[in-house]
Amino acid sequence: LMDGPLRGKHVLVTSGPTHEPIDPVRYIANRSSGAQGTALARALSALGANVTFVTGPADVPPPGGVTVFRVQTAQQMLDAVQAALPADAAVFAAAVADWRVASASDKKIKKDQKGSLPVLEFAENPDILATVSQMKKGRPALVVGFAAETHDVVDHATSKRDRKGCDWIVANDVSPETGIMGGSENAVTLISEDEAETWPRMGKDDVARQLAARIADALGGNA
Ligand code: C5P
Repeated sequence: LMDGPLRGKHVLVTSGPTHEPIDPVRYIANRSSGAQGTALARALSALGANVTFVTGPADVPPPGGVTVFRVQTAQQMLDAVQAALPADAAVFAAAVADWRVASASDKKIKKDQKGSLPVLEFAENPDILATVSQMKKGRPALVVGFAAETHDVVDHATSKRDRKGCDWIVANDVSPETGIMGGSENAVTLISEDEAETWPRMGKDDVARQLAARIADALGGNA
C-alpha cells in the first residue's frame, strides 16, 4: 500500500476525449491526448490516494496502480463516474464532447449515389462536472474542473467556476500557437473561490505533482 498524505482517500479522475458515434464506424472526437489527466492520476496515486481513473479513448496508456474504467461516450463517462462515487475529491480533466449525434445510425450510413449529403442533428451531452458539483447528497469535498480556453482565459474560467459550481478550475490556454493541447507542457492558472494563481509554464507531470499536492493540502493531508 502506498503511503503518503492522500492515503485512505478516494480520488476520481476523468481524462481523455470522448468519442460520439455517428454510425458504427464513424465518430466525432476532439484533440485531447489524455496526457494531463493521466499525469494527474499518477501523481495522486504517488501521494497514496486510491484513484479511480475514468478515461475516454486517449493517446497515452493509463498509469499503473489505479482502477481504470474505459469509456467512449460522455453518457458512458457520466455513468462510470456516478458508479465510482463516493469520492473525497474528483478532478474532471476529460475533454468531454458537448454534443452527441442525436440519433446515431445503427447501420453504416451509405454514400448516396445521387450526391445528397447526410445532415447530422445534435443533442446536448450531460455536463459531468456540473452534475457532480451540484450534487445535494454525497458531493465530493473537493471538485476540480479544467477550462481549456483560447482567449480571455481567466475571465472565462472564473465564470465557468461559478456556473458549474465546482471548487477549483484549472484554466489553461490552448491556443494552437501554445502547443499545449497534445504537447508535453502546460501553463495553468488555478482559480479558487478567492484567488487566481498563475503558475509558470512547466511539464504536465510537474503541473500534476503540484496540483496533487494542493489537493492533499485541501483534503487535510500535508504533501
Ligand atoms: O464547459 P467546458 O467544457 O469548457 O468545461 C470544461 C470542464 O468541464 C472540464 O473539467 C471538463 O472535464 C468538464 N466537462 C464535463 N462534462 C461535459 C463538459 C465538460 O465534465 N459534458
